[in-house]
Amino acid sequence: MPAEEHERIHGSGADAGISGQQSARPLVLEVAGLTKTYREGQSPVQVLDGINLSVAEGEFVSIVGPSGSGKSTLFHLIGGLAEPDAGRVLLRGRNITGQRGHIAYVPQQPALFPWRTIQDNVALGMEIAGTPRREAREQTREWLLKAGLGGYEQAYPHMLSGGMQQRAAFLRGLLSPQELMALDEPFSALDALTRSDMQHWLLELWEKHRRSVLFITHSIEEALLLSDRIILLSGRPARVLHELTVPFARPRRPEMAEEPEFLRLRRELTELMRGEQRKMQEGGAAR
Ligand SMILES: Nc1ncnc2c1ncn2[C@@H]1O[C@H](COP(=O)(O)OP(=O)(O)OP(=O)(O)O)[C@@H](O)[C@H]1O
Ligand SMILES: [Mg+2]
Repeated sequence: MPAEEHERIHGSGADAGISGQQSARPLVLEVAGLTKTYREGQSPVQVLDGINLSVAEGEFVSIVGPSGSGKSTLFHLIGGLAEPDAGRVLLRGRNITGQRGHIAYVPQQPALFPWRTIQDNVALGMEIAGTPRREAREQTREWLLKAGLGGYEQAYPHMLSGGMQQRAAFLRGLLSPQELMALDEPFSALDALTRSDMQHWLLELWEKHRRSVLFITHSIEEALLLSDRIILLSGRPARVLHELTVPFARPRRPEMAEEPEFLRLRRELTELMRGEQRKMQEGGAAR
């Protein structure tokens, strides 16, 4: 990558405290200048405007931003489900723009195959990667149990609630072998208690295995609890508005949500988000 492009993505070193942390670990994902306009409707809608971000090896990065700002679109481009108008997606330095299958991607809507049982849906990522079906099934049984889906191995997706489907889709991503996992609001359909259980389960797993994760959430609290770094997107068209290195030590504990520093950061990020939401609403009303 040319030096100036590298600098544009990662900052010049004077950047908000992330450079020291990032330079120590190789980068798994680099997103450079991603720009996207949808042209299907009556008038074109620009959704992304030159998004630059990166995820280092073993890093947990969250993306927050107002509803409709373009977060899922960004994931579609990273996962190769759509092509950008400009910009590139690099995985370990290799250009994967517009290509599918390189990351473990859990979309916002749980995309389970209706003709496969829950067990076979969850095992799919492993099977595609070459694990024999019988072995993949064996492994999934234990994970289904942990995710509160024991007894549903042979059920079909339509027999599960929205939250249960979401947990099954999350498990499929978790068990897919790709180095980078991209999760688009994986816990949004869950009630508060189940959501909190899933967060802590993910935290525990992540702290053990340190997989590289890119995580979209509406919840600033969730982002602060889970992440090493938070990227705040502006309203549409989305740009990177703010980046924050989360200062809390690991392992993270639920009690940290009551600490003054946690509350201060939550307030600061919430204010920024509110501002963007307001701008989007005013912009929408003006159109
Ligand atoms: N295939 C498409 N064709 C046209 N417009 C689209 C398409 N997909 C998304 N959009 C528009 O792009 C904008 C961003 O949508 P996107 O789903 O990326 O937002 P988001 O940040 O993920 O929102 P949410 O937080 O509600 O999930 C929206 O205005 C949406 O209407
Ligand atoms: Mg979305």
